[in-house]
Amino acid sequence: MDNDDRVPGPDLTQGVAADELAEGQPLLGHVGEQAVMLVRQGAAVHAIAATCTHYGGPLAEGLVAAGTVRCPWHHACFDLATGAVLAPPALAPLDCWAVSAERGVLRVGARRERPAPPKPLYSPKSVVIVGGGAAGDAAASALREFGYEGPVTLLTADSAPPVDRPNLSKDYLAGKAQESWLWLRTDDYWAQQRIELRLKRRALNLDLTQRHVVCTDGETIAFDTLLLATGGTPRRLDIPGARAPHVHLLRTLYHCQSIIETVQAGAQRVAVIGASFIGLEVAAALRERGAEVDVIAPEEAPLARVFGPRLAAAIAARHRAMGTRLHLGRKPVAIQADAVELDDGTRVPADLVVMGVGVQPADDLAHAAGLAVDRGILVDARLQTSAPGVYAAGDVARFPDPFGVAGMVRIEHWAVAQAQGRLVARNMLGFDAAYQDVPFFWSQHGDMSVSYVGHAEVWDAIEESGDPLRGDYLCRFLSQGRVLAVASVGRDLDSLREELALQKACLLHA
Ligand SMILES: Cc1cc2nc3c(=O)[nH]c(=O)nc-3n(C[C@H](O)[C@H](O)[C@H](O)COP(=O)(O)OP(=O)(O)OC[C@H]3O[C@@H](n4cnc5c(N)ncnc54)[C@H](O)[C@@H]3O)c2cc1C
Ligand code: FES
Repeated sequence: MDNDDRVPGPDLTQGVAADELAEGQPLLGHVGEQAVMLVRQGAAVHAIAATCTHYGGPLAEGLVAAGTVRCPWHHACFDLATGAVLAPPALAPLDCWAVSAERGVLRVGARRERPAPPKPLYSPKSVVIVGGGAAGDAAASALREFGYEGPVTLLTADSAPPVDRPNLSKDYLAGKAQESWLWLRTDDYWAQQRIELRLKRRALNLDLTQRHVVCTDGETIAFDTLLLATGGTPRRLDIPGARAPHVHLLRTLYHCQSIIETVQAGAQRVAVIGASFIGLEVAAALRERGAEVDVIAPEEAPLARVFGPRLAAAIAARHRAMGTRLHLGRKPVAIQADAVELDDGTRVPADLVVMGVGVQPADDLAHAAGLAVDRGILVDARLQTSAPGVYAAGDVARFPDPFGVAGMVRIEHWAVAQAQGRLVARNMLGFDAAYQDVPFFWSQHGDMSVSYVGHAEVWDAIEESGDPLRGDYLCRFLSQGRVLAVASVGRDLDSLREELALQKACLLHA
């Protein structure tokens, strides 16, 4: 570090010895106040911002490969030469600088202009996107990023502009993140990008012959090309009391704020029904707010179906250590004003109940319009539905498994929805690209953050090393000797390497 401890490493404008820079190993320094890294890739040396534009992950600790750098925290991928986002969850590109090499010294010069967007191969007369979540937001912004100049309308049933939904069960719910951190875009972004964002606008009908969408207020909006990105609707158990006012779901910012307000109004005994990712994350967040939390779930080992028994047990242990009581192997049979009654007669006191029992794809609109639907909107590898020029992406879409293992799959991950939204934007503009990404998600359980790459619905073998409770663990899920997915704790670089290996396998399959 220089004397100035706000910025890392050497001042790169002053120059560093060229032989200090090893192939593919970022050298972290700074330009003014900004953390910048030098990266050598073959004959090229790149100077690029070293802080991820998602949550500020340290890119110098990420993985450099084939002209890209991947963030160690949530696997965003950037082009080293241009700073462009190649894979979410990052939304904004990285700054890049010119580099000169003279007499064995590399020196960083002026910040480089961003390259002009490419010319679309095809330009639809208008694009309408139904759904202002991860996929809808990503598609709208990518249309502009990829050079589309025509009208874009983004309809959302939500009362708020697109938010960072994963935060709603983590830091924001725990009271550790400000509301301003939740917005995916600035207030003026929509006008600047000429994207017509229509809040509280629910699409009621879809006419594929007339090519228009009819909203609940009767307004008709014509489209040339359409994206359905309606996401999922949280399930509610069909038991007495399930619709009582103190029973909450969690999908939207509004839901999240109602939970927070209820806790702030004095509800201190929380029952979480369902030990799903969201259920357990809610439990951890509300423990941080000082509430008493009980989790009720029918399975004996929550998350074991996804993470395997060892990691699942470690996560359960972490929740118990945080003071959450787990009622496993138990079903709720009724919800009363002050308790949840279980199937063994136990009464779990609760003045706030959160149901985290999964979502169902919001595919009614598509179904009523006659699109092919089967537990989600069916799409091809290009994410086009059974109607030409109509696409679906994100939680609502069921698409061909890029690994060719699981047939048609529907995956509920934030970064998958964003990547699919971006891919649809490409395809609307004539680029004809297939979805071949390796799915990635992360989940937070107190101080234990789990990364998961790939997709394994079933497996016949597990290879594991390390100890999740010590924050050092990796587990591969295999079927017939082939790695389908990898879960890890505290092994960020390994997780990135596994993702790359899975990506190669995926491309080989294609
Ligand atoms: C609390 C929470 C935490 C999560 N944490 C993680 C995590 O840590 N990691 C991870 O990978 N994933 C996480 N997920 C999952 C992730 O958020 C979803 O996979 C992702 O949001 C899916 O994006 P989407 O665009 O398909 O749907 P959504 O983001 O749900 O957006 C759907 C949009 O469609 C709109 N809509 C629906 N029907 C209509 C209609 N008829 N007309 C107009 N608009 C309509 C909705 O209002 C909404 O704006 C989390 C989800 C939740 C709820
Ligand atoms: S901080 Fe980089 S991807 Fe999240």
